[in-house]
Amino acid sequence: MASVTSLTASVHQRLADALSAALPEAGAADPLLRRSDRADFQANGILALAKKLKGNPRELAAQVVSGITAPDLIKDIEVSGPGFLNITVADGAITENLAARAADGDRLGVPLNPDAGTTVIDYAQPNVAKEMHVGHLRSAVIGDALRQMLDFTGEKTIGRHHIGDWGTQFGMLIQYLVENPDQLAPAADVDGEQAISNLNRVYKASRAVFDADEEFKGRARKRVVALQSGDKETLEMWQRFVDESKVYFYSVFEKLDMEVRDEEIVGESAYNDMMAETARLLEESGVAVRSEGALVVFFDDIKGKDDKPVPLIVQKADGGFGYAASDLSAIRDRVVDLHATTLLYVVDVRQSLHFKMVFEAARRMGWLNDEVTAHNMGYGTVLGADGKPFKTREGETVRLEDLLDEAVQRAAEVVREKARDLTEEEIQERAFQVGIGAVKYADLSTSANRDYKFDLDQMVSLHGDTSVYLQYAYARIQSILRKAGAETGGPVAHPELELAPAERALGLHVDAFGDTLAEAAAEYAPHKLAAYLYQLASLYTSFYDKCPVLKADTPAQIENRLFLCDITARTLHQGMTLLGIRTPERL
Ligand code: ARG
Repeated sequence: MASVTSLTASVHQRLADALSAALPEAGAADPLLRRSDRADFQANGILALAKKLKGNPRELAAQVVSGITAPDLIKDIEVSGPGFLNITVADGAITENLAARAADGDRLGVPLNPDAGTTVIDYAQPNVAKEMHVGHLRSAVIGDALRQMLDFTGEKTIGRHHIGDWGTQFGMLIQYLVENPDQLAPAADVDGEQAISNLNRVYKASRAVFDADEEFKGRARKRVVALQSGDKETLEMWQRFVDESKVYFYSVFEKLDMEVRDEEIVGESAYNDMMAETARLLEESGVAVRSEGALVVFFDDIKGKDDKPVPLIVQKADGGFGYAASDLSAIRDRVVDLHATTLLYVVDVRQSLHFKMVFEAARRMGWLNDEVTAHNMGYGTVLGADGKPFKTREGETVRLEDLLDEAVQRAAEVVREKARDLTEEEIQERAFQVGIGAVKYADLSTSANRDYKFDLDQMVSLHGDTSVYLQYAYARIQSILRKAGAETGGPVAHPELELAPAERALGLHVDAFGDTLAEAAAEYAPHKLAAYLYQLASLYTSFYDKCPVLKADTPAQIENRLFLCDITARTLHQGMTLLGIRTPERL
């Protein structure tokens, strides 16, 4: 494995060196290098620096230029305007850089982050005995992408699916099952569809008895106590709900083409044994106080409508522990036992107040500090094409499975229309990869904190910023590479060749993959990677329009263009893989 320094980083380094030689008092000043339309790069930092140090910007810029001797890297550098630098990279440097990336397998020369730590990422957290909804889809898709991106930068990641498997509603469910034991088939005998329909049925039936029968209500309350104190029979019944739900969860995750590991499904219940101690620690340190019988944490800046402080409730007056207690215990577990340096939560933005309070309480306890930080990647709401929260025409929440099935169906229409030499089986397989990819990409290509419109027509469109567009770009390249086959020398880099503008633009963008990924991972911003990939496919399209590949002038040029095709395809493939999206070889 050999990592490759990006051209941006190399040019940046040269400029910074020349700058500090020309102006020692500037120290480690940043030349502020950007990609530019006029040349490959523009450096804007000299202007501000000269002004600050009361010098002449154009003179300083000229001094920097004369201090740079790197003909292999920099073809042209000139002062422009009031003191900008326009920099053009040498063609050979671009090709050589890409060749080094090509020699580095799947990593494509992308370096590992030297400061990598351990991130525990809390994502894909549905609730037991309940239908999953589009919000759970977002958490799963965003969380999975972030995790793979972080892994690729060298971060150690541990997944935690903090499923809702604890709380008072289980008293009702379990009591109903105790009284009607045949209502739930053993999990081993059902598939995902059956599991969720069984659970829905039991849920509705138990709710009906609960609402109508006061005595049942009393028995259900006692069940909660039995559950929290670990009564064996109660736990066995509870386990049946969890197992049945897992059958359902796994079926949805499989539809989402996403791997979920059993040992990482660690729900609220897993922290039950820690909760009393968590409460004790909070109370003893004075971070939490007793108020009207409950154990709560107050915050100066968090107030409700009537200006009364809104507390975080660690323990209710009746002694029960809730959502906050499990999250605070989970933080202790993740920090102390899993040695996390970062806690990342991918949870609906509507829970951000909860996390703000939980994180602040944990900071006061010292569980979080400068070395161990927590971050909620709160995501926005999924809206229908009409811009209102996503619902069926009848106003009900949309079943996630139906939604995914429909996406695959729509994708099948698109694939079928274009497919020339695909068998029916291949069409179905592609439809799955295109449809699920479309759903994921639509989610990932919008900044997560924004709401986004779930619009299947747009998602499976071949035009515009969609995954299908990227998948077609990839498949088209593969088809060219297949066609190139025996007649040519295949993809071979020729650094001695001059590059056409469209080749340079494409090459420089391929080079930026690692830098973009590092930024997107550090900012937890998959949409930056998505935007990069879209741009990559667009630059490839204009390269393909302007530069004949198999009909190029010389054999060397054919090989070099095939090489550009190949490295572009591999970069597209790696980027899409990190987003959890497949790139079929043929479409
Ligand atoms: N199960 C919760 C829900 O469906 C999300 C859990 C988020 N994670 C957490 N550690 N609280 O809303």
